Amino acid sequence: MYFDQDTIRVQLRARQSSTTFAHTLGVVAAAELLAQRYGADSEQVRVAALLHDLARDLETSELLKKAGEYGILVDEIEAREPLILHARVGAAMARHQLGVEDAVVLQAIERHTTGAPGMSLVDSIIYVADYIEPGRDFPGVDEARRAAGQDLDRALLLAMNGTLDHLIRGNRIIHPRTVEARNALLQRLLALKDNRWSGQ
Ligand SMILES: [Fe+2]
Ligand SMILES: [Fe+2]
Repeated sequence: MYFDQDTIRVQLRARQSSTTFAHTLGVVAAAELLAQRYGADSEQVRVAALLHDLARDLETSELLKKAGEYGILVDEIEAREPLILHARVGAAMARHQLGVEDAVVLQAIERHTTGAPGMSLVDSIIYVADYIEPGRDFPGVDEARRAAGQDLDRALLLAMNGTLDHLIRGNRIIHPRTVEARNALLQRLLALKDNRWSGQ
């Protein structure tokens, strides 16, 4: 183990609101189950789940400031919706403040909000776990939970669809990476001639 996860839990409890901390523990639990189910490295998954919302409770001004400090280029959409940045800033904080060097873990943290084309197994597990953790309660979550037990790609697609649906209904700006991530997933499934995702 490259750092003490108990110490991280204590640090998170201090940095996160009780709501975010409870959510984090839910994501860890859901992600551990998915790691077992789909044969991912349990340590990478646990660390990524623990740290995925490290920057979630920072004020937007602080997110923008930290993005500047860590050399993260902020695009036009992120400048308008700085909350999106909590994923990339969180990954940079995990690296620079906590010494996490595992690129698989850092990428999963970075991609957990918008997704990205070419999601790895660990990326997908964290994205889906974030969506279905036990504390989540919204229409469609049970369908995504059922899918997650059977087919991770289908669960990922349902999570992306649900996220986009939520943004559209709220008249929120959609980051292009979210659309690119979903297109890439659909193209990958089509290339596999895999129709598991279609229409149901
Ligand atoms: Fe998040
Ligand atoms: Fe989260």
